[in-house]
Amino acid sequence: MSELQTALQELTQKKFPVTPIRELKSGKEAKVWVVKSESDDSLYALKTYHDFKSRAFQTQKNYLQDRFIGDGANIRRAIRKGNDVGKQFIQDTWVMREQYFLKTLAGQSSYIPRMVKPLRNGVLMEYIGDENGPAPRLSDLKIPPEVWQSTAEILIELIELFLANGIIHGDLSAFNILWWNDKPIVIDFPQAIDVRESKRVPELLKRDIKNVLSYFKWDDELTIEEIANDMLDRYHIAH
Ligand SMILES: Nc1ncnc2c1ncn2[C@@H]1O[C@H](COP(=O)(O)OP(=O)(O)OP(=O)(O)O)[C@@H](O)[C@H]1O
Ligand SMILES: [Mg+2]
Repeated sequence: MSELQTALQELTQKKFPVTPIRELKSGKEAKVWVVKSESDDSLYALKTYHDFKSRAFQTQKNYLQDRFIGDGANIRRAIRKGNDVGKQFIQDTWVMREQYFLKTLAGQSSYIPRMVKPLRNGVLMEYIGDENGPAPRLSDLKIPPEVWQSTAEILIELIELFLANGIIHGDLSAFNILWWNDKPIVIDFPQAIDVRESKRVPELLKRDIKNVLSYFKWDDELTIEEIANDMLDRYHIAH
């Protein structure tokens, strides 16, 4: 059964049947679909992760670098070896992470999509866009310079909100920010980092800040250091 069918079946079981309208994107890790609710015709985005056996799994090294797996020596070994047990573990946590972070942040910000249903192999979430198509990514367009300052501030505040919740997005850039109704919406959380798990918090935080500010060409070293260190100080994180 395809990943889409698996997800559709689970949604039907959960009494939330949807019909796929179109595929938005098929990547290394996941596929995103626009789907329509069968009960009221509203649109949602359905993200499904590829089955672990068909995924590339180039991330195992980083995975171990940023995640403390308690005393899970067996899991650690399995991940390092890249065997099926290790891959399944990464696959499961990958899906759980996106759900966990979306859920944790839900209601705290209007700049991330609302999670509608967590699924075994993905997530049904708020669709950012309309019948004519999904919202463009920041990387696909140039927003007017008049709104650079306010948009950069929103995004830096969002990075701070993540940190206040013990989270670093970990892959933030114009490729994972949608632009809709003159507002940015941050997506794509599976690689998000729990600050308790990583030894590289300052480095990862700075990377997200840099990748956001580079869109506005404000990514000089001094600005990044200043913003990041100020945040780290306020949350009592050593740097
Ligand atoms: N909630 C949403 N509403 C509208 N479009 C979305 C939504 N979520 C994702 N998309 C679209 O699907 C694309 C892929 O989503 P996402 O970045 O979450 O997955 P990905 O497989 O990790 O992609 P990539 O590897 O390119 O980062 C996004 O760039 C965006 O265009
Ligand atoms: Mg993405």
